[in-house]
Amino acid sequence: MRTSNHLIGFLNFLTFLLSIPILGGGIWLSTRANNTDCLKFLQWPLIVIGVSLMTISLAGFAGACYRNTVLMRLYLFVMFFIIAALIGFIIFAYAVTDKGSGHQVPNRVYSEYYLQEYSGWLKDRVADESYWSKISSCIRDSKACGKMGRTVGGVPETADMFYLRKLNPIESGCCKPPTECGYVYVNETFWNPGGGLVGSNLDCSKWSNEQDQLCYSCDSCKAGVLASLKKSWRKVSVINIVVLIILVIFYVVGYAAFRNNRRMDNDEPFGEARMTKARPSRIQL
Ligand SMILES: *[C@@H]1O[C@H](CO)[C@@H](O)[C@H](O)[C@H]1NC(C)=O
Repeated sequence: MRTSNHLIGFLNFLTFLLSIPILGGGIWLSTRANNTDCLKFLQWPLIVIGVSLMTISLAGFAGACYRNTVLMRLYLFVMFFIIAALIGFIIFAYAVTDKGSGHQVPNRVYSEYYLQEYSGWLKDRVADESYWSKISSCIRDSKACGKMGRTVGGVPETADMFYLRKLNPIESGCCKPPTECGYVYVNETFWNPGGGLVGSNLDCSKWSNEQDQLCYSCDSCKAGVLASLKKSWRKVSVINIVVLIILVIFYVVGYAAFRNNRRMDNDEPFGEARMTKARPSRIQL
C-alpha cells in the first residue's frame, strides 16, 4: 500500500470519529425535544448528516484499504455533499435563531421573555396555534414547572429566595406570570392577583393557578421556547463548526492524496501490480 493510501485510510478513521460528536449533538437535541425544547423535527437533519458521515467514512476507509478507486470516488463525491449539507445546516441554525433574547427585570435575577422580540420562520411556526397546542402539551407533559418547586423546611421557598433564582427560559416564560402583571408570589407556580395595577400585557389575563394551565397559553411561554431553542442550537452549532473546519481540512488533504495516488498509478505503469489503462486526462472527478 502506498503511503497516501495509509493517509487516506487514517483520515477516514478520523472522519468516522468526527461523526460521533455530530450524531451526539443530534441525539442530545432529540432528548431535549422530548423534555424541554419540545420541537421535534429540528434534530433530524443533524442525525442524518451524522449517520451519512459515519457510513461514508467507512466506505472511504474500505476504499483506501483495498485500493478500490470506485469506493474512493464515491467517498469524495458523497463527502462533498455532506460538507455542503453541514454548512447549510449551520447557516440555517443561526438564521432561524437570529433574533431575541431574555430581558432583565428590576429586582429579579431571572430574565423574562417577550414574543414580539422574535421574528422569522421559527417564531411563526411556534406561534401558530395548531402547532403551539402540540408544543404546550409537550411542555405540560414534561412536568418542567412542577420540578421547579423548592421547599425550605417543608414550606415553599420565600418570594425573596425565588426572585434570586436563575430560571431557564421555559420556567420563566411558562411557569409563572410575567413580573409586570403584579401577581403576588405564593409558591413557584401559584400566584395571587395583586391589588389592581395589572399591566397592559395580554399574558396577565392568561395566567391561571390551575397547575395544568399556568402560563402555557402565554406569549411569554412561546418566547421561552424560542429562547430555549436558541440556546441549545447555539451549543450544537459550536460543535458543528469545529467539526466542519476539521472535515474540510481532511477532505482537501484526502483529495490531494487521492489525486497523487492516481498520478503515480499513471506515471509508473511498472510500479505496482496493477494494470492501468492509458487515460486521456488527469481530471479524475
Ligand atoms: C404550589 O401550590 C399549589 C397549590 O397549593 C400546588 O398545587 C402546587 O403543586 C405548588 N407548586 C409547586 C411547584 O410546589
